[in-house]
Amino acid sequence: MAFLVPVLILVVSFLAAYYLWRRSYPDTDNEPPMFPGALPLVGHSLQLIGDSCKLWNAINDLAQKSYDIGGVVAAAIGPRTIYVITDPDDFFTVANACLQKDDFYDFAKPWLGEGLVTGTVSIWKNHRKLLNPAFSQTVLDSFIGVFNSQSRKLVKDLKKEVGKGMFDHWTYTRHNSLETICLTALGVDFTDHTILNSRYVQAAEEIFYTMVDRFQKFWLHSPMTFKWSGVKRTQDRCLKILHDMSNSVLQKRKSDMTGNVLSERKTGMSSGTKFKPFMDLLLELAIEKNVFNDREIREHIDTMIVGGHDTSASVLMFTLLLLGSHPEAQEKAYQEIQEVFEGSDRDVDKHDLCKLVYLEAVLKESIRMYTIVPVVARKLDRNVQLKKYKLAAGRTCFAFLCGIHKHPMWGPDADQFNPDRWLSPDTLPDNPNAYVGFSLGRRMCIGKAYAYMSMKTSLTHILRNYRIHGDHKQLVLKIDVMLKPVSGYNISIEKRTR
Ligand code: HEM
Repeated sequence: MAFLVPVLILVVSFLAAYYLWRRSYPDTDNEPPMFPGALPLVGHSLQLIGDSCKLWNAINDLAQKSYDIGGVVAAAIGPRTIYVITDPDDFFTVANACLQKDDFYDFAKPWLGEGLVTGTVSIWKNHRKLLNPAFSQTVLDSFIGVFNSQSRKLVKDLKKEVGKGMFDHWTYTRHNSLETICLTALGVDFTDHTILNSRYVQAAEEIFYTMVDRFQKFWLHSPMTFKWSGVKRTQDRCLKILHDMSNSVLQKRKSDMTGNVLSERKTGMSSGTKFKPFMDLLLELAIEKNVFNDREIREHIDTMIVGGHDTSASVLMFTLLLLGSHPEAQEKAYQEIQEVFEGSDRDVDKHDLCKLVYLEAVLKESIRMYTIVPVVARKLDRNVQLKKYKLAAGRTCFAFLCGIHKHPMWGPDADQFNPDRWLSPDTLPDNPNAYVGFSLGRRMCIGKAYAYMSMKTSLTHILRNYRIHGDHKQLVLKIDVMLKPVSGYNISIEKRTR
Protein backbone atom coordinates (compact mmCIF):
# COMPACT_ATOMS: atom_id res chain seq x y z
CA MET A 1 0.00 0.00 0.00
CA ALA A 2 2.90 2.38 0.79
CA PHE A 3 3.63 2.86 -2.90
CA LEU A 4 0.14 4.37 -3.32
CA VAL A 5 1.07 7.44 -1.27
CA PRO A 6 3.61 8.92 -3.75
CA VAL A 7 1.30 8.01 -6.64
CA LEU A 8 -1.57 9.78 -4.88
CA ILE A 9 0.61 12.86 -4.23
CA LEU A 10 1.65 12.87 -7.87
CA VAL A 11 -1.95 12.62 -9.12
CA VAL A 12 -3.18 15.34 -6.74
CA SER A 13 -0.27 17.66 -7.72
CA PHE A 14 -0.96 17.05 -11.39
CA LEU A 15 -4.67 17.80 -10.98
CA ALA A 16 -3.93 20.95 -8.96
CA ALA A 17 -1.45 22.14 -11.60
CA TYR A 18 -3.90 21.29 -14.38
CA TYR A 19 -6.63 23.24 -12.56
CA LEU A 20 -4.33 26.25 -12.22
CA TRP A 21 -3.41 26.01 -15.88
CA ARG A 22 -7.05 25.82 -16.98
CA ARG A 23 -7.83 28.74 -14.72
CA SER A 24 -5.26 30.74 -16.62
CA TYR A 25 -7.30 30.37 -19.80
CA PRO A 26 -9.71 33.10 -20.92
CA ASP A 27 -12.21 34.14 -18.32
CA THR A 28 -13.41 37.35 -19.90
CA ASP A 29 -15.39 37.50 -23.11
CA ASN A 30 -13.44 37.93 -26.24
CA GLU A 31 -9.89 37.34 -25.03
CA PRO A 32 -7.23 37.11 -27.74
CA PRO A 33 -6.68 33.65 -29.23
CA MET A 34 -3.89 31.46 -27.88
CA PHE A 35 -0.74 31.02 -29.97
CA PRO A 36 -0.80 27.41 -31.23
CA GLY A 37 1.30 24.70 -29.59
CA ALA A 38 0.69 25.35 -25.85
CA LEU A 39 1.22 22.22 -23.72
CA PRO A 40 -0.52 21.61 -20.40
CA LEU A 41 1.42 23.03 -17.45
CA VAL A 42 4.40 24.29 -19.42
CA GLY A 43 2.50 26.25 -22.08
CA HIS A 44 4.95 27.55 -24.70
CA SER A 45 7.92 27.51 -22.32
CA LEU A 46 9.72 24.71 -24.16
CA GLN A 47 9.80 26.92 -27.24
CA LEU A 48 11.69 29.57 -25.26
CA ILE A 49 14.42 27.33 -23.86
CA GLY A 50 17.76 27.63 -25.63
CA ASP A 51 20.15 30.47 -26.32
CA SER A 52 18.99 34.08 -26.45
CA CYS A 53 18.89 33.95 -30.29
CA LYS A 54 16.13 31.36 -29.94
CA LEU A 55 14.20 33.77 -27.74
CA TRP A 56 14.58 36.49 -30.37
CA ASN A 57 13.23 34.10 -33.03
CA ALA A 58 10.30 33.16 -30.78
CA ILE A 59 9.50 36.87 -30.33
CA ASN A 60 9.43 37.35 -34.08
CA ASP A 61 7.12 34.33 -34.56
CA LEU A 62 4.75 35.67 -31.92
CA ALA A 63 4.80 39.13 -33.51
CA GLN A 64 3.92 37.64 -36.89
CA LYS A 65 1.01 35.66 -35.44
CA SER A 66 -0.18 38.77 -33.64
CA TYR A 67 -0.29 40.83 -36.88
CA ASP A 68 -2.30 38.06 -38.54
CA ILE A 69 -5.07 38.07 -35.95
CA GLY A 70 -5.49 41.77 -35.19
CA GLY A 71 -2.49 42.94 -33.19
CA VAL A 72 -2.85 40.84 -30.02
CA VAL A 73 -2.18 37.19 -29.25
CA ALA A 74 -2.15 35.13 -26.03
CA ALA A 75 0.61 32.70 -25.05
CA ALA A 76 1.42 30.66 -21.94
CA ILE A 77 4.63 30.69 -19.93
CA GLY A 78 4.41 27.75 -17.56
CA PRO A 79 0.91 27.89 -16.07
CA ARG A 80 0.45 31.65 -16.65
CA THR A 81 -1.24 33.26 -19.60
CA ILE A 82 0.37 36.32 -21.09
CA TYR A 83 -0.68 38.66 -23.86
CA VAL A 84 1.47 40.02 -26.67
CA ILE A 85 0.60 43.31 -28.34
CA THR A 86 1.93 44.58 -31.66
CA ASP A 87 -0.86 47.05 -32.41
CA PRO A 88 0.21 50.64 -31.56
CA ASP A 89 -3.22 51.85 -30.45
CA ASP A 90 -3.73 48.85 -28.20
CA PHE A 91 -0.32 49.42 -26.64
CA PHE A 92 -1.24 53.07 -26.05
CA THR A 93 -4.42 51.94 -24.27
CA VAL A 94 -2.55 49.50 -22.01
CA ALA A 95 0.35 51.91 -21.38
CA ASN A 96 -2.07 54.53 -20.05
CA ALA A 97 -4.48 52.19 -18.24
CA CYS A 98 -1.88 50.14 -16.33
CA LEU A 99 1.25 51.79 -14.96
CA GLN A 100 2.51 48.86 -12.90
CA LYS A 101 5.47 47.02 -14.42
CA ASP A 102 5.05 43.25 -14.57
CA ASP A 103 6.44 40.78 -12.00
CA PHE A 104 9.17 39.86 -14.50
CA TYR A 105 10.78 43.21 -13.69
CA ASP A 106 11.33 41.84 -10.17
CA PHE A 107 14.18 39.82 -11.69
CA ALA A 108 16.05 43.14 -11.92
CA LYS A 109 15.07 44.43 -8.48
CA PRO A 110 18.12 43.11 -6.61
CA TRP A 111 20.06 45.49 -8.89
CA LEU A 112 17.75 48.43 -9.62
CA GLY A 113 15.34 48.20 -6.66
CA GLU A 114 12.74 50.98 -6.73
CA GLY A 115 14.55 52.99 -9.42
CA LEU A 116 12.23 54.41 -12.10
CA VAL A 117 12.41 51.47 -14.53
CA THR A 118 11.46 48.78 -12.01
CA GLY A 119 9.70 50.90 -9.35
CA THR A 120 6.31 50.02 -7.87
CA VAL A 121 3.64 52.49 -9.07
CA SER A 122 3.00 54.16 -5.70
CA ILE A 123 6.72 54.96 -5.25
CA TRP A 124 7.34 55.64 -8.95
CA LYS A 125 4.62 58.34 -9.14
CA ASN A 126 6.25 60.39 -6.41
CA HIS A 127 9.85 59.85 -7.55
CA ARG A 128 9.19 60.55 -11.23
CA LYS A 129 7.63 63.89 -10.30
CA LEU A 130 10.67 64.75 -8.19
CA LEU A 131 13.16 63.66 -10.85
CA ASN A 132 11.56 65.20 -13.96
CA PRO A 133 13.28 68.60 -13.40
CA ALA A 134 16.68 66.89 -13.68
CA PHE A 135 15.86 66.29 -17.37
CA SER A 136 14.52 69.75 -18.20
CA GLN A 137 15.77 71.37 -21.41
CA THR A 138 17.83 73.91 -19.45
CA VAL A 139 19.67 71.15 -17.61
CA LEU A 140 20.18 69.16 -20.83
CA ASP A 141 21.52 72.21 -22.67
CA SER A 142 24.18 72.54 -20.00
CA PHE A 143 25.50 69.05 -20.86
CA ILE A 144 26.45 69.95 -24.44
CA GLY A 145 30.06 70.74 -23.51
CA VAL A 146 30.51 67.25 -22.07
CA PHE A 147 28.80 65.64 -25.08
CA ASN A 148 31.27 67.47 -27.35
CA SER A 149 34.40 66.63 -25.39
CA GLN A 150 33.36 63.00 -25.01
CA SER A 151 32.63 62.76 -28.75
CA ARG A 152 36.05 64.22 -29.56
CA LYS A 153 37.57 61.64 -27.22
CA LEU A 154 35.71 58.85 -29.05
CA VAL A 155 36.96 60.14 -32.42
CA LYS A 156 40.50 60.16 -31.05
CA ASP A 157 40.20 56.65 -29.60
CA LEU A 158 38.89 55.32 -32.91
CA LYS A 159 41.90 56.72 -34.78
CA LYS A 160 43.95 53.62 -34.07
CA GLU A 161 41.48 51.54 -36.12
CA VAL A 162 41.74 53.66 -39.30
CA GLY A 163 42.56 51.53 -42.31
CA LYS A 164 42.94 48.36 -40.23
CA GLY A 165 39.84 46.56 -41.53
CA MET A 166 36.87 45.31 -39.54
CA PHE A 167 36.76 45.75 -35.78
CA ASP A 168 34.05 45.60 -33.13
CA HIS A 169 33.50 49.18 -31.98
CA TRP A 170 31.58 48.01 -28.91
CA THR A 171 34.44 48.58 -26.47
CA TYR A 172 35.07 52.15 -27.56
CA THR A 173 31.47 53.29 -27.77
CA ARG A 174 30.21 51.54 -24.66
CA HIS A 175 33.04 52.85 -22.44
CA ASN A 176 32.71 56.33 -23.83
CA SER A 177 28.98 56.32 -23.17
CA LEU A 178 29.48 55.07 -19.60
CA GLU A 179 31.93 57.90 -18.93
CA THR A 180 29.46 60.41 -20.40
CA ILE A 181 26.60 59.32 -18.17
CA CYS A 182 28.88 59.35 -15.11
CA LEU A 183 29.97 62.90 -15.95
CA THR A 184 26.59 64.36 -16.79
CA ALA A 185 24.04 62.51 -14.69
CA LEU A 186 26.30 61.74 -11.75
CA GLY A 187 28.86 64.52 -11.90
CA VAL A 188 31.70 62.07 -11.41
CA ASP A 189 34.73 61.75 -13.64
CA PHE A 190 35.56 58.11 -14.29
CA THR A 191 37.45 58.73 -17.52
CA ASP A 192 40.72 57.53 -15.98
CA HIS A 193 39.20 54.45 -14.36
CA THR A 194 39.39 52.09 -17.32
CA ILE A 195 39.60 48.95 -15.19
CA LEU A 196 36.60 49.91 -13.10
CA ASN A 197 34.70 50.76 -16.26
CA SER A 198 35.59 47.47 -17.97
CA ARG A 199 34.53 45.43 -14.95
CA TYR A 200 31.29 47.39 -14.72
CA VAL A 201 30.46 46.99 -18.41
CA GLN A 202 31.23 43.26 -18.24
CA ALA A 203 29.11 42.75 -15.11
CA ALA A 204 26.19 44.71 -16.62
CA GLU A 205 26.32 42.47 -19.74
CA GLU A 206 26.40 39.36 -17.61
CA ILE A 207 23.58 40.35 -15.28
CA PHE A 208 21.31 41.08 -18.24
CA TYR A 209 22.13 37.62 -19.49
CA THR A 210 21.17 36.05 -16.12
CA MET A 211 17.78 37.78 -16.27
CA VAL A 212 17.03 36.39 -19.72
CA ASP A 213 18.33 32.98 -18.69
CA ARG A 214 15.96 33.00 -15.71
CA PHE A 215 13.07 34.11 -17.89
CA GLN A 216 13.68 31.26 -20.33
CA LYS A 217 13.84 28.65 -17.53
CA PHE A 218 10.31 28.94 -16.18
CA TRP A 219 11.13 26.74 -13.17
CA LEU A 220 13.47 29.52 -11.97
CA HIS A 221 10.70 32.12 -11.95
CA SER A 222 9.86 31.27 -8.35
CA PRO A 223 12.22 32.94 -5.85
CA MET A 224 12.29 29.60 -3.97
CA THR A 225 13.91 27.65 -6.82
CA PHE A 226 15.94 30.60 -8.04
CA LYS A 227 17.58 30.96 -4.64
CA TRP A 228 19.44 27.64 -5.06
CA SER A 229 20.42 28.06 -8.71
CA GLY A 230 23.76 28.77 -10.36
CA VAL A 231 22.08 31.72 -12.11
CA LYS A 232 21.55 33.36 -8.72
CA ARG A 233 25.22 32.84 -7.82
CA THR A 234 26.29 34.55 -11.06
CA GLN A 235 23.83 37.35 -10.39
CA ASP A 236 25.24 37.89 -6.87
CA ARG A 237 28.79 38.09 -8.22
CA CYS A 238 27.74 40.72 -10.79
CA LEU A 239 25.71 42.65 -8.22
CA LYS A 240 28.78 43.08 -6.05
CA ILE A 241 30.68 44.77 -8.90
CA LEU A 242 27.72 46.91 -9.98
CA HIS A 243 26.84 48.08 -6.49
CA ASP A 244 30.48 48.75 -5.64
CA MET A 245 30.56 51.16 -8.59
CA SER A 246 27.36 53.01 -7.68
CA ASN A 247 28.32 53.15 -4.01
CA SER A 248 31.69 54.63 -4.90
CA VAL A 249 29.95 57.20 -7.13
CA LEU A 250 27.69 58.09 -4.23
CA GLN A 251 30.54 58.39 -1.75
CA LYS A 252 32.55 60.53 -4.17
CA ARG A 253 29.70 63.00 -4.62
CA LYS A 254 28.97 63.05 -0.93
CA SER A 255 32.56 63.99 -0.19
CA ASP A 256 32.34 66.70 -2.89
CA MET A 257 29.29 67.91 -1.06
CA THR A 258 31.22 68.21 2.17
CA GLY A 259 33.65 70.30 0.17
CA ASN A 260 30.64 72.50 -0.56
CA VAL A 261 30.72 72.14 -4.34
CA LEU A 262 27.31 70.58 -4.65
CA SER A 263 25.10 73.26 -6.09
CA GLU A 264 27.14 74.22 -9.13
CA ARG A 265 29.91 72.18 -10.58
CA LYS A 266 32.63 72.94 -13.05
CA THR A 267 33.36 69.93 -15.21
CA GLY A 268 36.97 70.60 -16.10
CA MET A 269 36.18 68.73 -19.34
CA SER A 270 35.04 71.82 -21.09
CA SER A 271 36.27 75.04 -19.63
CA GLY A 272 33.60 77.38 -18.36
CA THR A 273 30.82 74.78 -18.63
CA LYS A 274 28.64 74.61 -15.58
CA PHE A 275 25.88 72.14 -14.97
CA LYS A 276 24.00 70.45 -12.21
CA PRO A 277 24.17 66.67 -12.41
CA PHE A 278 21.13 64.53 -11.72
CA MET A 279 22.85 63.15 -8.62
CA ASP A 280 23.08 66.59 -7.01
CA LEU A 281 19.34 66.97 -7.32
CA LEU A 282 18.91 63.62 -5.53
CA LEU A 283 21.27 64.64 -2.75
CA GLU A 284 19.65 68.04 -2.37
CA LEU A 285 16.20 66.47 -2.15
CA ALA A 286 17.54 64.00 0.40
CA ILE A 287 18.98 66.75 2.56
CA GLU A 288 16.43 69.51 2.16
CA LYS A 289 13.18 67.53 1.85
CA ASN A 290 14.25 64.26 3.43
CA VAL A 291 12.74 62.31 0.52
CA PHE A 292 15.44 59.82 -0.48
CA ASN A 293 17.47 57.52 1.75
CA ASP A 294 20.90 56.18 0.71
CA ARG A 295 19.45 52.94 -0.69
CA GLU A 296 16.95 54.83 -2.88
CA ILE A 297 19.66 57.18 -4.14
CA ARG A 298 21.83 54.20 -5.06
CA GLU A 299 18.92 52.54 -6.88
CA HIS A 300 18.29 55.70 -8.92
CA ILE A 301 21.99 55.97 -9.71
CA ASP A 302 22.11 52.34 -10.88
CA THR A 303 19.02 52.91 -13.02
CA MET A 304 20.45 56.05 -14.61
CA ILE A 305 23.81 54.43 -15.31
CA VAL A 306 22.29 51.43 -17.03
CA GLY A 307 19.33 53.25 -18.64
CA GLY A 308 21.56 56.04 -19.81
CA HIS A 309 24.64 54.41 -21.27
CA ASP A 310 23.82 50.98 -22.66
CA THR A 311 20.81 52.25 -24.61
CA SER A 312 22.43 55.25 -26.32
CA ALA A 313 25.62 53.30 -27.01
CA SER A 314 23.67 50.45 -28.63
CA VAL A 315 21.68 52.83 -30.84
CA LEU A 316 24.88 54.58 -31.88
CA MET A 317 26.51 51.26 -32.76
CA PHE A 318 23.55 49.99 -34.81
CA THR A 319 23.34 53.39 -36.53
CA LEU A 320 26.99 53.32 -37.59
CA LEU A 321 26.50 49.80 -38.93
CA LEU A 322 23.43 50.90 -40.89
CA LEU A 323 25.20 53.96 -42.28
CA GLY A 324 28.15 51.76 -43.17
CA SER A 325 25.76 49.54 -45.12
CA HIS A 326 24.03 52.50 -46.87
CA PRO A 327 26.72 54.81 -48.27
CA GLU A 328 24.13 57.09 -49.91
CA ALA A 329 22.43 57.76 -46.55
CA GLN A 330 25.83 58.31 -44.93
CA GLU A 331 26.77 60.81 -47.62
CA LYS A 332 23.48 62.68 -47.14
CA ALA A 333 24.06 62.87 -43.38
CA TYR A 334 27.63 64.06 -43.98
CA GLN A 335 26.49 66.75 -46.43
CA GLU A 336 23.92 68.00 -43.92
CA ILE A 337 26.62 68.26 -41.25
CA GLN A 338 28.87 70.14 -43.69
CA GLU A 339 26.07 72.60 -44.46
CA VAL A 340 25.05 73.23 -40.85
CA PHE A 341 28.66 73.69 -39.70
CA GLU A 342 29.80 75.34 -42.96
CA GLY A 343 32.63 72.86 -43.21
CA SER A 344 34.11 73.76 -39.84
CA ASP A 345 35.16 71.37 -37.07
CA ARG A 346 33.66 73.49 -34.30
CA ASP A 347 31.69 72.07 -31.37
CA VAL A 348 28.01 71.31 -31.72
CA ASP A 349 25.82 73.84 -29.91
CA LYS A 350 22.16 73.60 -28.87
CA HIS A 351 20.99 75.59 -31.93
CA ASP A 352 22.71 73.17 -34.34
CA LEU A 353 20.85 70.17 -32.99
CA CYS A 354 17.43 71.09 -34.38
CA LYS A 355 18.99 71.84 -37.80
CA LEU A 356 20.30 68.26 -38.08
CA VAL A 357 17.00 67.02 -39.50
CA TYR A 358 18.37 64.20 -41.64
CA LEU A 359 20.60 62.97 -38.83
CA GLU A 360 17.55 62.73 -36.58
CA ALA A 361 15.72 60.81 -39.31
CA VAL A 362 18.69 58.40 -39.46
CA LEU A 363 18.53 57.84 -35.69
CA LYS A 364 14.76 57.28 -35.68
CA GLU A 365 14.99 54.85 -38.57
CA SER A 366 17.82 53.02 -36.84
CA ILE A 367 15.75 52.71 -33.63
CA ARG A 368 12.80 51.50 -35.70
CA MET A 369 14.91 48.91 -37.53
CA TYR A 370 16.81 47.70 -34.46
CA THR A 371 14.59 48.47 -31.50
CA ILE A 372 17.10 48.12 -28.71
CA VAL A 373 14.43 47.86 -26.01
CA PRO A 374 12.39 45.32 -27.97
CA VAL A 375 9.87 44.37 -25.30
CA VAL A 376 8.26 46.05 -22.29
CA ALA A 377 5.74 44.50 -19.92
CA ARG A 378 2.88 45.70 -17.74
CA LYS A 379 0.85 44.02 -15.05
CA LEU A 380 -2.85 44.32 -15.83
CA ASP A 381 -4.49 45.56 -12.66
CA ARG A 382 -7.90 45.77 -14.35
CA ASN A 383 -9.70 44.36 -17.39
CA VAL A 384 -8.67 46.36 -20.44
CA GLN A 385 -10.85 46.73 -23.52
CA LEU A 386 -8.81 46.97 -26.71
CA LYS A 387 -9.96 47.62 -30.28
CA LYS A 388 -10.74 43.97 -30.96
CA TYR A 389 -10.12 42.00 -27.77
CA LYS A 390 -10.57 42.27 -24.03
CA LEU A 391 -7.62 41.59 -21.70
CA ALA A 392 -8.23 40.03 -18.28
CA ALA A 393 -7.06 41.64 -15.06
CA GLY A 394 -4.16 39.96 -13.25
CA ARG A 395 -2.33 38.88 -16.40
CA THR A 396 0.94 39.99 -17.92
CA CYS A 397 0.89 42.13 -21.04
CA PHE A 398 4.00 42.27 -23.21
CA ALA A 399 4.22 45.08 -25.74
CA PHE A 400 6.56 44.09 -28.55
CA LEU A 401 7.99 47.50 -29.45
CA CYS A 402 10.07 45.76 -32.12
CA GLY A 403 6.85 44.28 -33.53
CA ILE A 404 5.07 47.65 -33.56
CA HIS A 405 8.03 49.03 -35.54
CA LYS A 406 7.59 46.39 -38.28
CA HIS A 407 3.79 46.49 -38.29
CA PRO A 408 2.30 46.36 -41.81
CA MET A 409 1.23 50.01 -41.33
CA TRP A 410 4.90 50.95 -42.03
CA GLY A 411 4.30 49.79 -45.61
CA PRO A 412 5.90 47.16 -47.85
CA ASP A 413 9.40 48.47 -47.11
CA ALA A 414 9.06 48.05 -43.31
CA ASP A 415 12.16 45.80 -43.33
CA GLN A 416 14.27 48.32 -45.25
CA PHE A 417 16.43 51.12 -43.81
CA ASN A 418 14.92 54.26 -45.30
CA PRO A 419 15.60 57.44 -43.26
CA ASP A 420 13.83 59.49 -45.94
CA ARG A 421 10.46 58.19 -44.73
CA TRP A 422 10.83 60.51 -41.70
CA LEU A 423 11.14 63.63 -43.84
CA SER A 424 7.46 63.91 -44.74
CA PRO A 425 4.24 62.94 -42.90
CA ASP A 426 3.03 61.38 -46.19
CA THR A 427 5.62 58.61 -45.96
CA LEU A 428 4.98 57.82 -42.29
CA PRO A 429 2.14 55.71 -40.87
CA ASP A 430 -0.97 57.72 -40.24
CA ASN A 431 -0.77 56.86 -36.53
CA PRO A 432 0.99 58.96 -33.85
CA ASN A 433 1.67 55.81 -31.77
CA ALA A 434 3.54 53.92 -34.47
CA TYR A 435 6.99 55.01 -33.23
CA VAL A 436 7.55 53.57 -29.75
CA GLY A 437 11.34 53.35 -29.37
CA PHE A 438 11.11 55.21 -26.05
CA SER A 439 7.79 53.58 -25.09
CA LEU A 440 4.49 55.48 -24.68
CA GLY A 441 2.46 57.12 -21.94
CA ARG A 442 3.49 58.29 -18.51
CA ARG A 443 6.15 55.61 -18.03
CA MET A 444 7.92 56.45 -21.24
CA CYS A 445 11.68 57.11 -21.20
CA ILE A 446 12.75 60.06 -19.08
CA GLY A 447 16.03 60.31 -21.02
CA LYS A 448 14.69 60.64 -24.59
CA ALA A 449 15.84 64.24 -25.17
CA TYR A 450 19.18 63.50 -23.44
CA ALA A 451 19.66 60.50 -25.74
CA TYR A 452 18.98 62.43 -28.97
CA MET A 453 21.30 65.26 -27.91
CA SER A 454 24.19 62.98 -27.03
CA MET A 455 23.74 60.69 -30.05
CA LYS A 456 23.46 63.56 -32.54
CA THR A 457 26.57 65.18 -31.10
CA SER A 458 28.55 61.93 -31.29
CA LEU A 459 27.41 61.18 -34.84
CA THR A 460 28.32 64.69 -36.00
CA HIS A 461 31.88 64.31 -34.72
CA ILE A 462 32.29 60.75 -35.99
CA LEU A 463 30.84 61.30 -39.46
CA ARG A 464 32.83 64.43 -40.19
CA ASN A 465 36.03 62.59 -39.34
CA TYR A 466 35.43 59.09 -40.69
CA ARG A 467 33.76 57.27 -43.54
CA ILE A 468 32.19 54.10 -42.14
CA HIS A 469 31.88 50.71 -43.84
CA GLY A 470 29.83 47.79 -42.57
CA ASP A 471 27.17 45.26 -43.44
CA HIS A 472 24.17 45.06 -41.12
CA LYS A 473 22.83 42.07 -43.06
CA GLN A 474 25.55 39.98 -41.41
CA LEU A 475 24.05 40.63 -37.98
CA VAL A 476 22.79 37.66 -35.99
CA LEU A 477 20.60 39.05 -33.23
CA LYS A 478 19.85 37.95 -29.70
CA ILE A 479 17.89 39.44 -26.85
CA ASP A 480 19.71 40.05 -23.57
CA VAL A 481 16.90 42.27 -22.24
CA MET A 482 18.18 44.66 -24.89
CA LEU A 483 18.67 43.76 -28.54
CA LYS A 484 22.29 42.79 -29.20
CA PRO A 485 24.20 41.26 -32.08
CA VAL A 486 25.80 37.88 -31.30
CA SER A 487 28.50 38.60 -33.83
CA GLY A 488 29.52 42.06 -32.58
CA TYR A 489 29.17 45.50 -34.15
CA ASN A 490 31.77 45.11 -36.88
CA ILE A 491 32.68 48.13 -38.95
CA SER A 492 35.78 49.52 -40.62
CA ILE A 493 36.67 53.19 -40.80
CA GLU A 494 38.54 55.43 -43.19
CA LYS A 495 39.72 58.98 -42.46
CA ARG A 496 37.79 61.65 -44.33
CA THR A 497 39.82 64.31 -46.04
CA ARG A 498 38.19 67.70 -45.94
C1 HEM B 1 18.37 55.76 -27.41
C2 HEM B 1 18.38 55.68 -26.12
C3 HEM B 1 17.24 55.18 -25.27
C4 HEM B 1 16.20 54.35 -25.57
C5 HEM B 1 15.89 53.69 -26.90
C6 HEM B 1 15.39 54.21 -24.37
C7 HEM B 1 14.23 53.46 -24.29
C8 HEM B 1 13.46 53.37 -23.15
C9 HEM B 1 12.25 52.59 -23.04
C10 HEM B 1 11.63 51.78 -24.16
C11 HEM B 1 11.78 52.73 -21.79
C12 HEM B 1 10.55 52.05 -21.18
C13 HEM B 1 11.03 50.83 -20.41
C14 HEM B 1 9.93 49.98 -19.83
O1 HEM B 1 8.76 50.34 -19.88
O2 HEM B 1 10.29 48.93 -19.30
C15 HEM B 1 12.69 53.59 -21.08
C16 HEM B 1 12.54 53.98 -19.77
C17 HEM B 1 13.48 54.70 -19.08
N1 HEM B 1 14.64 55.25 -19.58
FE1 HEM B 1 15.25 55.19 -21.48
N2 HEM B 1 15.97 54.95 -23.38
C18 HEM B 1 17.10 55.57 -23.89
C19 HEM B 1 17.94 56.43 -23.23
C20 HEM B 1 17.84 56.77 -21.91
C21 HEM B 1 18.72 57.68 -21.22
C22 HEM B 1 19.85 58.44 -21.89
C23 HEM B 1 18.32 57.71 -19.91
C24 HEM B 1 18.88 58.50 -18.76
C25 HEM B 1 19.81 59.37 -18.84
C26 HEM B 1 17.18 56.81 -19.78
C27 HEM B 1 16.50 56.56 -18.62
C28 HEM B 1 15.30 55.86 -18.55
C29 HEM B 1 14.52 55.73 -17.32
C30 HEM B 1 14.91 56.25 -15.95
C31 HEM B 1 13.37 55.00 -17.66
C32 HEM B 1 12.20 54.64 -16.74
C33 HEM B 1 11.14 55.72 -16.89
C34 HEM B 1 9.96 55.55 -15.96
O3 HEM B 1 9.42 54.44 -15.83
O4 HEM B 1 9.58 56.57 -15.39
N3 HEM B 1 16.92 56.27 -21.01
N4 HEM B 1 13.70 53.98 -21.93
